[in-house]
Amino acid sequence: MPRLWPWVLLGLVALDGARGRKRFRPQTYPGITNKTFIGQYVDIHNRLRSEVQPQAADMLHMTWDLALARTARAWGQKCIFQHNYFMKEKGAGHPDPKLHPVGENIWFGPARRVPFNSSNAIYSWYSDKDFYDYQDNSCSQVCRHYKQVVRASTYKVGCAVVFCRRLDRHRNTEYFVCNYGPTDTYPSRPYKTGQPCSACPEGDTCQDHLCSKYRSEFQQFYILVYSSVTMVSDNAVTGIALPQICLHNS
Ligand SMILES: *[C@@H]1O[C@H](CO)[C@@H](O)[C@H](O)[C@H]1NC(C)=O
Ligand SMILES: *[C@@H]1O[C@H](CO)[C@@H](O)[C@H](O)[C@H]1NC(C)=O
Repeated sequence: MPRLWPWVLLGLVALDGARGRKRFRPQTYPGITNKTFIGQYVDIHNRLRSEVQPQAADMLHMTWDLALARTARAWGQKCIFQHNYFMKEKGAGHPDPKLHPVGENIWFGPARRVPFNSSNAIYSWYSDKDFYDYQDNSCSQVCRHYKQVVRASTYKVGCAVVFCRRLDRHRNTEYFVCNYGPTDTYPSRPYKTGQPCSACPEGDTCQDHLCSKYRSEFQQFYILVYSSVTMVSDNAVTGIALPQICLHNS
């Protein structure tokens, strides 16, 4: 009887090998500090924010945030298509309470071999606007994804895309998570209407209908919190609103 064991083992190895050959091979997805990736999703958010109807008086320009991107990645890697349930804990999402509460949008699609493009995901969230009535501040269906994309007071975003061999019952998916700070949890209108930039915080300039300012407060913070962070100038990613970004080596 014990002599059978080597054959059973060999059989298992062979099966595994056969499955291995057929396995879908995902592309290499951009990391959270990939500037091309960051530049795309930050730009799309800002473009959509600058074009809201009715027009917004107090819409802040968004810039990238390292800690939010790390939160998005950490959640994405769990491959659970739900909102991040750790976010309910006080202080979750971002180490600085100035950005609390942290909001989140999630999206998934079939994994593809072409470079990841966050446009589909962000437009799908934005398309919730069809269900939102600004006048009555009412939603005929789900519209919180739209409201998060265009929430005036949110000025930081960090996203991550990960490959999930299984996401719930779906196979081979790409899972895109964005975290936002600060958001608000009460059911207010996402922004004030009026002449663009007519209700900006004091000291802001107006850039493409968005209230813009060099908001540097988190950068010192990262140097303390994440030991391997280095600060670099990068106008391509940040435009004039934020002349530096933090890069984390991972
Ligand atoms: C950054 O991401 C883009 C696609 O979003 C990809 O084409 C590029 O190779 C990535 N760069 C690095 C260094 O991974
Ligand atoms: C991403 O997709 C959008 C919509 O299809 C397209 O307009 C845009 O050029 C794409 N971006 C890149 C970098 O491929």
